[in-house]
Amino acid sequence: MTLKDKRVLLGITGGIAAYKSAELTRLLTRAGVEVRVVMTEAATRFITPVTMQALSGQTVWTDLWDARVPDNMGHIELSRDRDLIVVAPASADFMAKVAHGLADDLLSTLCVARRCPLMLAPAMNVEMWENAATQRSLQLLRDDGVLLAGPAAGDQACGEIGMGRMLEPAQIAAEVDNFFQPKLLAGKRVLVTAGPTEEPIDPVRVLTNVSSGKMGFAVARAARDAGADVTLVSGPVALATPSGVARIDVRTAEEMFEAVKKAVKSADVFISVAAVSDYRVKNRASQKIKKGNGGLSLELEENPDILSWVAALPKPPYCVGFAAESENLAQYAKEKRLKKRLPLIAANLAQEALGADDSAITLYDDRGEHPLGRGPKLQLARKLVEHLAGALPQKK
Ligand code: C5P
Repeated sequence: MTLKDKRVLLGITGGIAAYKSAELTRLLTRAGVEVRVVMTEAATRFITPVTMQALSGQTVWTDLWDARVPDNMGHIELSRDRDLIVVAPASADFMAKVAHGLADDLLSTLCVARRCPLMLAPAMNVEMWENAATQRSLQLLRDDGVLLAGPAAGDQACGEIGMGRMLEPAQIAAEVDNFFQPKLLAGKRVLVTAGPTEEPIDPVRVLTNVSSGKMGFAVARAARDAGADVTLVSGPVALATPSGVARIDVRTAEEMFEAVKKAVKSADVFISVAAVSDYRVKNRASQKIKKGNGGLSLELEENPDILSWVAALPKPPYCVGFAAESENLAQYAKEKRLKKRLPLIAANLAQEALGADDSAITLYDDRGEHPLGRGPKLQLARKLVEHLAGALPQKK
């Protein structure tokens, strides 16, 4: 795992979202990160250093004048062995301080004296967030290359609703994870299709495929974490869009085809994970079909094969297909790769992969077979991204 043995300094400033930093510490330490916590005086009013010490397993630092640091250089030393400083929650006051280089307590001094990158997870009332001064701070921070995780919009502890909510701990942990991913696809534009498609029979019935979209969404996230500019064309699924990914929702195979035709023009890579319906109903009923007439016959016509169409373009992007088979996996996957003229295909057993969080994938390309092993779909997606990044044509 990329997070194993990474060293993060977690700064906590004064805000009600400070209680979420306890969960963030748990998530990071569980993923193998060594977390050192530094709190402002105001943060200790919201959550105690004892709590953070128990969760991080390390001394918690709060004071610029801490007598335990022999040479009084805590403000420098505490961040020297760190790979990243994450401040969550970052208050409006703290953002303003960092933006202007103020250093009047341990955490702000550490930030000014840092050598490693800094990520802020802002958390504040909507009016504080929208205040012109905060927005000026934000611009300065961006210009200085400070990374921002959130904020999000929604209910606030003060009872108001709007922008300024801190991201959930799992989302901040995902941003940290993303930060540590190698940027193998930097500058590349990646188009991904995911999920099933739905072909209407009548206004209340559809023909569809069993597909949760989990693999496609994991692939989109892995590509984005690898630095790519990602567009995700998704059929109907109940999944959150990975942050930083441009999502286009579609329903039918034809809608997916239209969306792909447009987006593929600028794509360097096309990864077709969607379980596209091979057929659509020829004479779709405009009203609900009534039962009671014995049986029902549907006339089906074939849908376009989106991936084959993209792979046959005069200058196709690097195309990756997915094959979900219930038997003869290797043979069918290899045949499919050749038939669709794909440089790379990822094969998995349908009965193992469908709807599950884990899967087992084998890649096939001109060089042969490459088993990626079994594991969570995000882990497999990262391995797929690594493999395809190595196979992409080098920049001229
Ligand atoms: O359905 P099949 O096994 O042929 O799917 C193999 C690959 O082709 C998958 O990557 C799938 O996304 C793609 N496909 C497509 N359009 C179709 C059918 C499949 O793009 N109509």
